This record gives sequence, C-alpha cells and structure tokens, in this order.
Amino acid sequence: MRPRVFVTRPLPVPTLDRLRGQCEVELHEEDSPVSPAQLAEICSSRPIEGLVVCGARVPAEVVESAARLRVVSNVGVGYDNVDVAACTRRGIPVTNTAGVLEETTADLAFALLMAVARRVAEGDRHIREGRWQQWKWGLLWGADVHHQTLGIYGLGNIGRAMARRGRGFSMRLLYHSRRGADAALENELGATFVDHDTLFRESDFVSLHVPLTPETHRLVGARELSLMKPTAFLINTTRGKVVDEEALAAALDSGGIAGAGLDVFEHEPRVHPSLLSLPNVVLAPHIGSATTATRSRMAALAAENLLAALEGRRPPNVVNPEVYSCGRA
Ligand code: DGY
Repeated sequence: MRPRVFVTRPLPVPTLDRLRGQCEVELHEEDSPVSPAQLAEICSSRPIEGLVVCGARVPAEVVESAARLRVVSNVGVGYDNVDVAACTRRGIPVTNTAGVLEETTADLAFALLMAVARRVAEGDRHIREGRWQQWKWGLLWGADVHHQTLGIYGLGNIGRAMARRGRGFSMRLLYHSRRGADAALENELGATFVDHDTLFRESDFVSLHVPLTPETHRLVGARELSLMKPTAFLINTTRGKVVDEEALAAALDSGGIAGAGLDVFEHEPRVHPSLLSLPNVVLAPHIGSATTATRSRMAALAAENLLAALEGRRPPNVVNPEVYSCGRA
C-alpha cells in the first residue's frame, strides 16, 4: 500500500509528480492556509502518514488527530508553526528546508536595509504620485550604508549570509548569538561578538536572524529600541513576534530610531496601522525566500525529507533528531 500524504499548498508540479510517484497525494489546491481544525479533520478521517506543511499550523491537536502520522515535512526553515514537542512525543520526525534558502533570504534582508536607508520606496511613491516636478538638492536625503556598523542578531546560516553582504559594503560587523563567540567564524566573517545591549547601542543597522522560540518572543522591545541610536535602523526578516510591534511603531513615530525594513509582522497578515502610515518603514509581505529558484528548491527538499522518512530512512533535515536516537522513528 502506498502511503497517503496531505500537502497543504499547490507546490510546483515537479514536486507533486515526485510525491505522486511514491504516495497517494491529497492536495489543498488553493494558495491559502488550511486551518488546524481542517487539518485535524483531514488527518482523523483518512489514514494520513505524511504531511507536507507550507504556511499552515500543526498544533498538538492536529498531531493527536493523525493516528497513522509518520512525518511532518515543513516547507520553510522556521518551524514555529509546528508543535515539535507533540511530534517528538509520538516519535514523529519533523523536517525543515534549511540549506536552500539562506542566501535568498539574506538578499531580501539586505534589500530592505538598502531600501530604507536610501529611501527607495519613498522615492518610488514620490514619482508615482506625480510629486516629482524637478531635480532638487534637498530631496530624499538618506543614510549611508557603506562603512557603517551592521549588528547581526543570530549568526546562523542567514545571519552569516547577511554578514558577508555587509562585508561587501565595507561595513563594520558586530554580532550577538546565544551560543556566544566563535573564533573561527569571527575570523572568516570579520565579525566581532558583543553582548545584547552593545549590539543595539553601537549598530547603525540591526538585522534580526534568530528563530522564534519562547526565549526570542519580543526579544526586541521598548528597552532595546531605546538603546538604539536615533539614526539607526531595524531590519526584521525572521519572525514578526521577535519584535514588539507596538513599541517599534512608537519608536519609529517618535524618532527614537530612524527607520525599519520589515518582511514579517506580529499578527500576519495584519500590520500595525501606525507602520502603514509611517514613511520611514519599508514593508514586504513575508517574501524572504520568494524567488522562483529558491521556492522550487524548498518544495523539492520538503518532498525528499518526506519520502526519506516514509521509506524508513533518516531525512536530511530533521529538527527533532532525538526521535532517531531513542529508536522510535
Ligand atoms: C521560512 O522559511 O521560515 C520562511 O519564513 C517561510 O515560512
């Protein structure tokens, strides 16, 4: 019997074909989220052995509803949408798509950094709204990027890719990470480890690259924002809940900081109304990994992860490896 799998979004055809070669595939055909209640209903009413999860939540109630579930394959590097502990309790491997989207996401983080510093979105609006009547000396002065200090919070793969981009712009690189300093990495990147407060105090640009966990929830709040220079910018391409959006809106409005580039929001797709009206914020709709090549690679990797687990092999990207060490999966 071929295993039955449920795919929560219309992934690229080659990926679906690959899955269909090995499995009975049921597909949510719309590019819209499947609710946990729908997912629980699907998992409890059919013998679903694998879930390919793209932009859907998998809380404990879904895991518990799926008696035959053997793998949850998340299409994305962040897996805060999946109750990993609930999966681990049942010996179910959870996988992600780390390794194929880091450079692309860092591209977007740097694009937001550039856009907000050099007021690119404001310039675009200026022209489209018919306000550009003549060249002006004093029009849309921004901030330099080159030779400024870039503070990277979280030096995982995306943070490192961001550091390399900053280096290309002759920036001074500071970083803070939970694991502390890593001499080899510091040498390779030319980055200096600093403590949490120093990162906010000294950076001209703070770019966030930590996963969302209970420890990083609202990691950046009024206190951190008050440490930042009034000329500094905050860039967030990780998860919206890492920043207290209310405090950020207040800091941007009062001139506490100079601007922000945001790809993620606390209550997506809702954006804090103040952020929508402030000119010194560049907004993007959670598109960090959204290029044709990268999204295709993510889908393909998610399929490989799923198939490996269903065939009894250890998938390349397991985020709860303990399910293998205790011999359950
Ligand atoms: C990721 O890979 O985590 C992206 O943010 C998509 O959720």
